[in-house]
Amino acid sequence: MAVVVTGIAELTTNDEELGTLSGAALVIDRGRIAWVGPAAQAPAADDRVDIEGRAALPGWVDSHTHLVFAGDRTAEFGARMAGRPYSAGGIAVTVDATRAATDEELSAVLQRHTVEAVSQGTTYLETKTGYGLTVEDELRSAVLAGQFADEVTFLGAHLVPPGSDADEYVELVCGKMIDTVAPFVQWADVFCETGAFDEDQSRAVLQAAKEHGLGLRVHGNQLGAGPGVRLAVEMGAASVDHCTYLTPSDVDALAGSDTVATLLPACDLSTRQPLPDARALIEAGASIALASNCNPGSSYTSSMAFCVATAVLQMRLSVEEAVRAATLGGAQALRRPDVGVLRPGARADIHVLDAPSVTHLAYRPGVPLTYAVWRKGFRVR
Ligand code: NIG
Repeated sequence: MAVVVTGIAELTTNDEELGTLSGAALVIDRGRIAWVGPAAQAPAADDRVDIEGRAALPGWVDSHTHLVFAGDRTAEFGARMAGRPYSAGGIAVTVDATRAATDEELSAVLQRHTVEAVSQGTTYLETKTGYGLTVEDELRSAVLAGQFADEVTFLGAHLVPPGSDADEYVELVCGKMIDTVAPFVQWADVFCETGAFDEDQSRAVLQAAKEHGLGLRVHGNQLGAGPGVRLAVEMGAASVDHCTYLTPSDVDALAGSDTVATLLPACDLSTRQPLPDARALIEAGASIALASNCNPGSSYTSSMAFCVATAVLQMRLSVEEAVRAATLGGAQALRRPDVGVLRPGARADIHVLDAPSVTHLAYRPGVPLTYAVWRKGFRVR
């Protein structure tokens, strides 16, 4: 059944030719966008929805979350707000709670956060393992994640489990763990940072992932300058995520590559880190994405609108640049040409704001502006 959506005051398509349209309409048919253009030329359809002068844009593509977890780190957050620095070590608290949880408990957490994300306009979501850190717990995390997320990333190399030898653990990750988990995931990731995995260990994990046919992602340059960005580019990773501390040569390397710099401003705020230099990346010609990094330790929010508002108000992006990074940028980071864009043939993932333009996302920060959401052509809100 085809549905024509009319009354679109401002339609952000992210398509180079279509651009941003005023007074627009679009047609949804069998889960895809069938037509986009001026409202006056809209074809007839089986059903019609008038959004009465609101803005429509592609649904958010949240390309970085960690939603397979149990437990709570409110106390750690409180200590951080009182001045204690964030460190990778906090991950171990969530690992203990995740291992102790039942499948039903983990599924309930996944469901709660994916529903929360969709209700705020997220229509395509990646999530990661990484709080299991044994073969069995990483496998369980990957299988459960696949029931809720569009894309799943294996992050067995999130932290060396306390009490384990780092090189022996890397051998396990690159051997039995990845052999077991690879059939259930699309991506592999490594936390390349002081306190997690060094450059050689990270390269070994990425090489093993490549040999298993997985796409690559890297957590890099989150807590200080380091080899993460350089390694991600060298290995042809689809994205390097965080990029909080970049040297000029990191920026040049990203600009000369297909690796997307995924910026996670909610995490930088929650861990009291500086915000990344998004303007330097854009001006150098690098591709950027914005993502929530929703996880219980460093960034406990699923709000992409918050990330967009922060990117505009604090990181000097224009609203258009921030919206693009949170939609098309995320799709590029996940190598999905059919999402993050509203053009004929794309997935019908549409986010309608209760506002006449996307500018309101930054002009009215913190206000829940999601009015309607279609995901795969179904109205889910
Ligand atoms: O992306 N940096 C590593 N991993 C997560 C944090 C996980 C945690 O603290 O639980 C991140 O910020």
